[in-house]
This record gives sequence, C-alpha cells and structure tokens, in this order.
Amino acid sequence: MSHAEQAPLKFAYWVPNVSGGLVTSTIEQRTDWGYDYNRKLAQLAEANGFEYALSQVRYIASYGAAYQHESTSFSLALLLATERLKVIAAVHPGLWQPGVLAKLISTADHLSGGRAAVNVVSGWFKDEFTKLGEPWLEHDERYRRTEEFIRVLREIWTSDHAEFRGDFYRLHDFDLKPKPVEVPGRPHPEIFQGGNSTAARRNGGRVSDWYFSNGKDYDGFAEQVQEVNGHAADAGRLGQVRFGLNGFLIARDSEREARETLHEIIAKADAVAVEGFRGAVQQAGSSTSDKRGMWADSSFDDLVQYNDGFRTQLIGTPEQIADRAIEYKRRGADLLLLGFLHYHEEVEYFGRHVLPIIREKEAELDARELSTSSTR
Ligand SMILES: Cc1cc2nc3c(=O)[nH]c(=O)nc-3n(C[C@H](O)[C@H](O)[C@H](O)COP(=O)(O)O)c2cc1C
Repeated sequence: MSHAEQAPLKFAYWVPNVSGGLVTSTIEQRTDWGYDYNRKLAQLAEANGFEYALSQVRYIASYGAAYQHESTSFSLALLLATERLKVIAAVHPGLWQPGVLAKLISTADHLSGGRAAVNVVSGWFKDEFTKLGEPWLEHDERYRRTEEFIRVLREIWTSDHAEFRGDFYRLHDFDLKPKPVEVPGRPHPEIFQGGNSTAARRNGGRVSDWYFSNGKDYDGFAEQVQEVNGHAADAGRLGQVRFGLNGFLIARDSEREARETLHEIIAKADAVAVEGFRGAVQQAGSSTSDKRGMWADSSFDDLVQYNDGFRTQLIGTPEQIADRAIEYKRRGADLLLLGFLHYHEEVEYFGRHVLPIIREKEAELDARELSTSSTR
C-alpha cells in the first residue's frame, strides 16, 4: 500500500494507573495514578488527538510502582468518562480465564458503544505469578498459551457455536450473548499484543490485530515490522497486522530544554528500583532461546523509562518530534504510544503544538508519495 492511501498516524497514551509515573526517577512528576486525575486526563486526551488509551496491568510493586489500579475495571471507568476514546485493557493469560474475560470485554463494549479493546501481555514478572500461586511457564510456553488465548477470544466474539481444543483452553459449543457491538470495519474488540522476542513476533503475525513494540530506533523498529509481516504472510494475514511503537515524549520550546529534562530524569533515577527491574526483566529476556527478548540489550539509562521509551527519541522541539514521527510512519508505524512526565500539561502541549505539525508533514508525505506513484 502506498502512503498516499494510508490512514493518518494514530496516537495512544499510557494510562498512569500505577503510582510513580512513567519514569523510575525522583524528578518531579506532576502525574497522579488516582481516578480523578485519570478521568480528566482521558477527557483531555480525546480532545487533543488521542484515539486510544492503554492501561497497564500490574499486581505487585515493581519499577517504583508501589500501588496499582486493576486494568479492566479502571479501563471501564475511563470508557464511561469519555465519548470517543478507545481504551485498551492489559490482561495476562494464565491469570484470566479467556471466556470470563471475553464476557467482561463484551459488556464493557456495550457500555461504551464499541470502544473496548485488550492488550494481551505474556508477562515477564515471575513473582506476580508465583505469589498468586499460579505456575510460571517457560518463556515460549507463555507465548504458546497467549496464542491460544487470543484464538479463544476471537472465536467467542465471532461464533455462535464457539469450539476450541488446545493444550491450555477448551470450548464446547459456547454462545456468548450479547456478542460485542457491531462496529463497521471492526470484526470484534481489537486485540493488541506486546513483546520483542521471536515468539512474540510470531504471535504478532499469526493472531494479533496490533503488534506493540517497546521503544526502538528506526532500524530496530523497521526490523520488527518486517519480521512480523513475514509471519503474517505465512499465516495468510499480510496487511492485517498493524504496528504501534512506544515512545516517551519530551516536547519543549527549545531542544536544549527537552534534552535537559531527559538528563535530569536520568540523573535522578531511582537506582535501586531500576536495578530491581533490570534483574527481573533480564531474567525474562535472556530466558528466551535466542536471547532476543525485550530489554535483553537495554542499558541502565534505557530502563529508567521501563518500556525503553527514550530510545524512540521523541525528544526536542515540536518540529523535531514531528520529523521523527513521520519517519516512523514511513517505516511502518500505524500508531505511536506515548508517555509523558507531566501528563495533563504535556498532553495539551502535544495537541496544540506537536500534532498540527505532524499532520502538515503527513500531508506533504502523502503528496510526495502520490506524485512519485503517478510518475512511475
Ligand atoms: C506496549 C507494551 C505494553 C505492555 N504492557 C504490559 C503490562 O501492562 N503488564 C505486563 O506485565 N507486561 C506488559 N508488557 C510486557 C509483555 O507482556 C512482555 O512480557 C514483554 O514484552 C517481554 O516479552 P518478550 O520476552 O517477548 O520480549 C508490555 C509490553 C509492551 C510492548
């Protein structure tokens, strides 16, 4: 597909539903994990160009997130407080029974007029499972379970006689009523999935509607798009998987101010919490057979934003950020997933100063693509 035919780049934000903000640092963060702050944020976000919000799932403390609101209930509250925003709830196979979740999301979809979605996360935090008395599967087994989990969700949401026989889940002539809301162009609530490992990429291509990447530079992102699309092609799904990329956005009137903010975040990193997180995630990353799991090559500085958000380098003036956003779009991004230091203020700044430039540059890109394709 040429870019001239492509949809506008979409934007999502990380819901700060855990305490401590989006960076593990003692720098001032005027972000609050409570509901009042989040309700206002969701309303600001939908008025400032955000189409999606992504809640996090966390059951016990990590990376400084001492307190955590549960993702599905919090997502539903945000759906009810907004009119257009789609809210993606993060969920762990292994902790949820997929039929129960399918039912919950279908109800949330009805309560919100077709705006519920899920992010199926395979999990990296062993303690979270073992402390809840659930087995911690080996890495690729977690992803095999995730593939079945997603197939079960889709089967339940689309079939009147849902059937499934897998190693982890089974369905017998199950008929969910009501099915999720019928939304044109959306066969069922959207299914996102995040990860970097070979197993995550395979699942991304084979079963997901959306593949979420951690923060990456241009080449690191493009390489994933190519590989996931290869798996999608093998599964007869080429063109059906869309790509979201995480980035921590620091937009300031001058590049110097933005860089100084980044410097201060890292200088004030909560070293004990970052090291604790590093220990947990690198166990998960290096436990993959090819050592390609997420965070496998992350530095201390990268991990201060726990989803490698600095690597995307959405840091600078609105113009500089817009240039990078467009380049990521050229390399396959359909959506940018953003985190901020001071959410309320910065979401508004994004809508007022950054987004208009992105839209201008997108129009220029589309015009260029159109003239190239017409002279071909
Ligand atoms: C955008 C994004 C969001 C994620 N959200 C969560 C989350 O809320 N909770 C969680 O435990 N893991 C979350 N993960 C982590 C994944 O579930 C997975 O454990 C991680 O990507 C490591 O996978 P890998 O070994 O395939 O690289 C997220 C990952 C990405 C990319």
